[in-house]
Amino acid sequence: MRQVIAGNWKMNGLTADAQALAQALRAGVEHAPTQAEVLVFPPYTQIATVARILAGSGVGWGGQDCHMAENGPHTGDISPDMLRDLGATHVILGHSERRRDHNELDETVREKTVEALRAGLIPIVCVGESEEQRAGSQQEDTVGWQIKGSLPDGFGGADGSGGLVAYEPVWAIGTGRVATVEDIAAMHAFVRGELVRQMGETAGRGIRILYGGSVNAANAASVLAVPEVAGALVGGASLKATDFLTIIAATTGLPAA
Ligand code: PGA
Repeated sequence: MRQVIAGNWKMNGLTADAQALAQALRAGVEHAPTQAEVLVFPPYTQIATVARILAGSGVGWGGQDCHMAENGPHTGDISPDMLRDLGATHVILGHSERRRDHNELDETVREKTVEALRAGLIPIVCVGESEEQRAGSQQEDTVGWQIKGSLPDGFGGADGSGGLVAYEPVWAIGTGRVATVEDIAAMHAFVRGELVRQMGETAGRGIRILYGGSVNAANAASVLAVPEVAGALVGGASLKATDFLTIIAATTGLPAA
């Protein structure tokens, strides 16, 4: 299995920005081929543009969210099939900004995950504790419950290709305060233990666990070398092609699963 570098562009980028970023990324991976799996998550309005530029480059793309229904009266929402229609392979679900801005609960995330899997998308389900929860030593309880509530039966599949988990401590997202390698190692070991306990040995061991929260060009190598870190979900630093390419170049091989 390969490490995954996923760039979450969030609510950033007009057409010219998305074109320039996608073109620079394509040129960068052609110039320096990587063993990593590279994905970008543009805003919905830019997915088609990015898809045209990245087609055949080896860099994949996905959505930052999707609805839990196949279609119908849901003004402003996007279904997993609509993402698939644009060549998306993945979708981020349960990001803490969705949980915060749209009151998404674990149950919502689970329903969306089920629908994404039905449509053939690979979900990247985000979990992570808030600053207050960490201050109260609640990080394990919080993340354990999020895993229980957000991941449906069958998540991860037999070989781990049916879903990934991203551990993203909320206090580290967009703040420049990356978690220490010790904290990341401890939480990834905890998440692995919970996945095995909750999903069973085979599925639980196969699911790749990404770290997210202020990963940048300077700290990527140390984060990506932590045991159980199967890649990174990158926000701010994914908007600058040179930084994102540096992060891609910092990936390591993963032991065969
Ligand atoms: P950040 O965002 O890299 O800007 O901290 C990470 C994320 O929200 O996935």
